[in-house]
Formats: sequence, C-alpha cells, structure tokens
Amino acid sequence: MQTLNTIADTRQQVRTWQAQGLTVGFVPTMGNLHAGHIRLITEARQHADRVVASVFVNPTQFGPNEDFDAYPRTLAADQAKLAAAGTDLLFAPPVDEMYPETTLTWVDVDHLGDHLCGASRPGHFRGVSTVVSKLFNIVTPDIACFGEKDFQQLAVIRRMVRDLCFGVRIIGVPTEREADGLAMSSRNGYLSQEERALAPQVYAHLQQARQAIEAGESDYPALQQRLSASLGSLGFRVDYLTVVNAETVSPATPQDTDLRVAVAARLGQTRLIDNIPVTIVRD
Ligand code: PAF
Repeated sequence: MQTLNTIADTRQQVRTWQAQGLTVGFVPTMGNLHAGHIRLITEARQHADRVVASVFVNPTQFGPNEDFDAYPRTLAADQAKLAAAGTDLLFAPPVDEMYPETTLTWVDVDHLGDHLCGASRPGHFRGVSTVVSKLFNIVTPDIACFGEKDFQQLAVIRRMVRDLCFGVRIIGVPTEREADGLAMSSRNGYLSQEERALAPQVYAHLQQARQAIEAGESDYPALQQRLSASLGSLGFRVDYLTVVNAETVSPATPQDTDLRVAVAARLGQTRLIDNIPVTIVRD
C-alpha cells in the first residue's frame, strides 16, 4: 500500500488506474481505525479493482467546543490495518492541503442535516458534505462505502450525490458491533471502565424499540419518551432517541414502513450514537 499526502499525487495514481480500465472504490475515514472501518474496506474490495482510503480529521465538521484537538490520531497503526485489509492507496493529507485558504464554498444539504445530530452539532453535516465532496473530486471513485452507524451522515451523502450528480455509487455497510452489542466507534476509547460496562444499554434500548414497534406500537412519541427516560435513569444524557423515516430522516408517522430508530446519548464526556432499521410489513 502506498501512502500519499498530496492531492496532485493521489489524482495522478487514480488516473493511471482509470486509464487502465480499473474501477476505484473509496473509503473516507478520520482514522483511529477499528473493525467497522475494516469492514468498509472489505466491502469496497468486493465492488472495485482498486481501493483508496483516506485518513483526514476534518476540522470543518467539529464545533468550537468539540473534540477536534483530542481526536485520536494513530496514523502508523491505521496504515498497518489498511495494508493488511488490502487497501491499495492511502490518502492522508495535512489540513493545509485540504484547506489552503479560507473556505468560501460550502456544500449544505437542506433539512436532512438539521435535526438529530445536526440539532446538537450545528454545522457538522455542512462540514461533512463539504469535505466528502472535495474527497470525491480528488479520488473520483466509482463506488464509496460509508457505515450505517452514522445513518444520518449516510442519508446526507446519498442525497448530496443525487442532487449534485456525483458519478459515484454509495454503498451503506451495516454497523460492526462488540460482542455485547456496543457499536464500534473511534470514540469508544474515551469511555471509562464503568461507562464501558453501561454503554451496551444504548443498543439494548434500540432493540426494545424495535420489538415494541414490531409488536404493533405506533405511538412513537410515547415510545421515545419511555425509552429516553429509561436510558436517563441509567445515567445517560439523551440527546435524542427517535423513530424516523429511513429516507427523509424526519419523524416517522404511523403510515411509514421503512424506519430507523436512532439514538445519541452522552455518557460522561463521550457521545455515543447508534441506530437500527425497522421494517413494518403490512399485509
Ligand atoms: O464518518 C467519518 O469518519 C467522517 O464523517 C467522514 C465521512 C470521513 C468525513 O470526514
């Protein structure tokens, strides 16, 4: 695996492959890689001849009081994991390669990024869609893989690709979990031992929501309130626990059939997010 730090070198390598008729798969990351990221690489391998990954902790998607400086940077370990997973090229630019001057052009997907994580992280999805647009323009991939754990991000990217006619197919990859159900995340490393023991309750509450909906519960506000209160009583500070329409990410109505139950909850300093799909089958 080669590691390149500049846009020009990365473009040149990708163009060489594309001139040879090879397809390119892309996995953008912020590094500190875990098994969930490796699953994205494995998936990309199945859809493309060459796989490019990026490691870039993107400053424009962090709010002023968020963990940009503290975000774990583990490039050497990431390189080893990416190489072992069969990545062909790692693009790892410094910040001034991606943002050499003040950004005046932003990509902002209306509405989809306003609620859920967007409500408690204003500007976050604008930073994500802007950097992903830039990365797509640099790597020009045929396909790109994103984790379903960041379900709202996936919805924003899918819509951006449609609206802006990017020639890339987006593949959503199911969440990788620890044995006790906790969704893998680069931020899990922030958890204390006590918090780590409690953290699987997030997934447990999502499963309770799914069971209730599958059993016929359609008063979603009541369900949300009940489960949020239950998480709260365990020591979580719940940002949201919501049943949404899987495509629009807006609050689900009893008529919707393709749903996601999504949660964001803080445990100490750590913000955990997770979600699960729920499909209502009507006869
Ligand atoms: O999901 C992430 O790690 C980031 O939001 C992404 C897509 C790499 C953009 O910085």
